[in-house]
Amino acid sequence: MILILLGAPGVGKGTQGALISKEYGIPQISTGDILRSEVKNETELGKKAKAYMEKGELVPDDVIIEMMEKRIKQDDCKNGFILDGFPRTVAQAEAFDKMLSKNGLELDKVILIDVPEEEIIERLTGRRICPNCGAVYHIKNNPPKVDGVCDRCGSKLIQRDDDREDVVRKRLEVYKESTMPLVDYYMKTSKLVKVDGTGDIEEIFARIKKILG
Ligand code: AP5
Repeated sequence: MILILLGAPGVGKGTQGALISKEYGIPQISTGDILRSEVKNETELGKKAKAYMEKGELVPDDVIIEMMEKRIKQDDCKNGFILDGFPRTVAQAEAFDKMLSKNGLELDKVILIDVPEEEIIERLTGRRICPNCGAVYHIKNNPPKVDGVCDRCGSKLIQRDDDREDVVRKRLEVYKESTMPLVDYYMKTSKLVKVDGTGDIEEIFARIKKILG
């Protein structure tokens, strides 16, 4: 199964991607997570990406396309994968189509998760993440058992630099301008399915499972 999770920042792509990955036994590939790890490790790629990410802008297409070409060739992707945060521009979607046909693969579904903007801002400004294992929490909606501490590995939780309200608003603008055209792009392939992203995490997951079968 090859799946794309599409939607604005904060609609729950990461949260739902993790649940789908566990249920169907295929990896979740988050471009944001890969980039954050490159930034943390101060690699050449991380150095290139950092300034864009801090401002809420997109990292240039050529950098992302090269990174993804390598990632989907890895062994763990042979039974399929879930893309979370890629493609994000029409150029990336076209490059992904080429990657698929070059490797004899076919896209199954694009799940567009939809959440109103004010709720997105509330979700992102309240999000906390574990810098060690990547677990994602929300101070009100999905809090850890012990305040500020990761349930999974016990590390101290942090707020992402790009989850400050001004950067969140910029990310939403960038989404509308650069990523929303992908809705039309995938609508034409009749692979796009829209899912209401409001309500409980489990409730949304049930909606997605119904689509995936
Ligand atoms: P990335 O990390 O991909 O960020 P994003 O798309 O902005 O998405 P988020 O991770 O913010 O949100 P999400 O939809 O995964 O929501 P989550 O599940 O965490 O990208 C970061 C940056 O990297 C970009 O700005 C760009 O610079 C660069 N980048 C990445 N990919 C790129 C690409 N392809 N091209 C160019 N540049 C790229 O949920 C959010 C919060 O809500 C959490 O706290 C969660 O607990 C909570 N929550 C989840 N579900 C619910 C619910 N149902 N009810 C209440 N709260 C909920």
